[in-house]
Amino acid sequence: MTHPTSPHLWPENTDVHDGVLHVNEIPVTELAAGFGTPAYLLDVPGLRSRAARYRRAFEEAFAPAQVSVYYAGKAFLSRAVARWVRDEGLRIDTASAGELATALAAGIDGAEIGLHGNNKSVEEIDLALENGIGRLVIDSLPEIDLVAARAAARGQRAPVMVRVTTGVHAGGHDFIATAHEDQKFGLSLASGAALQALEQIVANEHLELLGLHSHIGSQILDPDGFAAAAAALLGLRATLAERTGHLAAELDLGGGYGIAYTPQEQAVDIEALAASLAQACRRECERLGTPQPDYSFEPGRAIVGPSMVTLYRVGTVKPVELEDGGSRLYVSVDGGMSDNIRPALYGADYHAELAGRTSSADPVPARVVGKHCESGDIVIRDVSLPGDIAAGDLLAVPATGAYGRSMASQYNLVPRPPVVALGDGAPREIVRRETVDDLLALDLG
Ligand code: LLP
Repeated sequence: MTHPTSPHLWPENTDVHDGVLHVNEIPVTELAAGFGTPAYLLDVPGLRSRAARYRRAFEEAFAPAQVSVYYAGKAFLSRAVARWVRDEGLRIDTASAGELATALAAGIDGAEIGLHGNNKSVEEIDLALENGIGRLVIDSLPEIDLVAARAAARGQRAPVMVRVTTGVHAGGHDFIATAHEDQKFGLSLASGAALQALEQIVANEHLELLGLHSHIGSQILDPDGFAAAAAALLGLRATLAERTGHLAAELDLGGGYGIAYTPQEQAVDIEALAASLAQACRRECERLGTPQPDYSFEPGRAIVGPSMVTLYRVGTVKPVELEDGGSRLYVSVDGGMSDNIRPALYGADYHAELAGRTSSADPVPARVVGKHCESGDIVIRDVSLPGDIAAGDLLAVPATGAYGRSMASQYNLVPRPPVVALGDGAPREIVRRETVDDLLALDLG
């Protein structure tokens, strides 16, 4: 029994026996036979231990402040996942009626759920209030009146936070960096909109201000941006207290903790990051002369991302001559941009390994491509694979748990793959494979 190469990329409970990748002791050859390919394989104990690790890291670093960790469901949400992370002491962060309804259907108490969105519908706000949502994160000035009116109509006081745009620019790609000024999220600190929102909320009898929120981006590997954003929020909290006498109880510092996708990358060291962030927050509170708030966090990717592997079956293999005289092996798999849009959307890199057998063939430069009718349908731009890789082989791509299934499409009317849970009793689909009949059921002729 050995580990796959670069063990830090793979779910905690993966091993290789005789060249065959096993997840929670189940060979992927058996899983491919039973569940088909492509399939997302989820290491359930691995997911749970990552959830617990993140919660503990923040709790221990920020003690004695109260800490809540919300799992960001946008990374991947299903009822089973919601329950597993809840059982590890996390709450759930949602960003739409669909995510909210899924968390509720899992039996998560509304008070343990947050709702985000820069354009929440009246129906989403009502669904949240009806279920006693723990927090609605206000994202614009008009939303303040809307939420207050919906709460008033129900005779309720809505618990809200304000998402503040701190001006900190961080994250792996422009499309996933969210706290610089020129983008759609949040209320600007620099323009005064955030303070205006906070003052309006404090003055509104139908709203209860819980605190200030910041999410600076995603796939962040450099921890400095978090401390800068926290300092900005603490300063704004002190200003609000000075002006209104209201000292906001909580700071939500969002998600965004980066993971490793390729052998060269290293995930954020969450214990070290939490410790230095907590230290920076303590120092800033002392400097401002304000007591420490409670804290919350919203990791998504870092919890579910490394807990899943996508299993594909290789179809055609085609050597292509390159202009520089070299050659590249194009390895087509039975999925592609419909189950992982991240390479096409963000230029994201991944890693892959032959998963169903040993090979002693020399590695060759390869490109893993999907089955869709687009030349940009690339799963991995550059990867070394054994030169004897052939049709019928199984290929595993690690770290696909976040923003894989949750951003999957039915492009070319290719049904979406299942999520197969391993290590929680017998292997089972927690999201079943879509079928062509499912697709036709939506087509009303
Ligand atoms: N909280 C808020 C308010 C967010 O907007 C997000 C992510 C998170 C938490 C969770 O961030 P995480 O810990 O997962 O990085 N589709 C992109 C990522 C978009 C992230 C959007 N917001 C990707 O595939 O990289």
